[in-house]
Amino acid sequence: MFQHDRPQRKRVIDISLKTKIINLPKISDVRGNLTFIEGNNHIPFEIKRAYYLYDVPGGESRGGHAHRETEQLILALSGSFDVVVDDGNVEKRTITLNRSYYGLFIPKLTWRELVNFSSGAVCLVLASTKYEEKDYIRDYREFVKTVKAHGN
Ligand code: TYD
Repeated sequence: MFQHDRPQRKRVIDISLKTKIINLPKISDVRGNLTFIEGNNHIPFEIKRAYYLYDVPGGESRGGHAHRETEQLILALSGSFDVVVDDGNVEKRTITLNRSYYGLFIPKLTWRELVNFSSGAVCLVLASTKYEEKDYIRDYREFVKTVKAHGN
């Protein structure tokens, strides 16, 4: 028999202003677990791109930027890592991702850094846009200015 392990509790857990952990569907049976993600259903955007980070050497960090328009869902498909998020207004929050059925939704104009990758960690990112370098804000001071200009 399949065990549809759909969480009884609220699916979305707020952890800061707009960044949130999304508890994805998980279907378990004797063959293992299966999780699925539908754009505009389980996550609040249409998926235009997927990319993944792997073989990240110990002590290295990724990210260190914000996006002007792109929204993302970040998942630890294997292993674990921490995501430090900062909306430019309140204090930074650190979220540890270590379960394949938790997705961290990151809205636009959120500074993020991915750190503390475990050995063998695989980070999947689903994005609402195709890659465009001009969507990146890579300078923190420019990020804070842009947030203020948007009245966030
Ligand atoms: P970057 O966004 O700096 O990596 P991270 O956020 O994980 O630290 O991207 C590294 C390089 O890869 C950079 O030259 C841009 C390129 N890249 C693409 O060509 N397409 C993509 O979808 C992404 C995410 C990056």
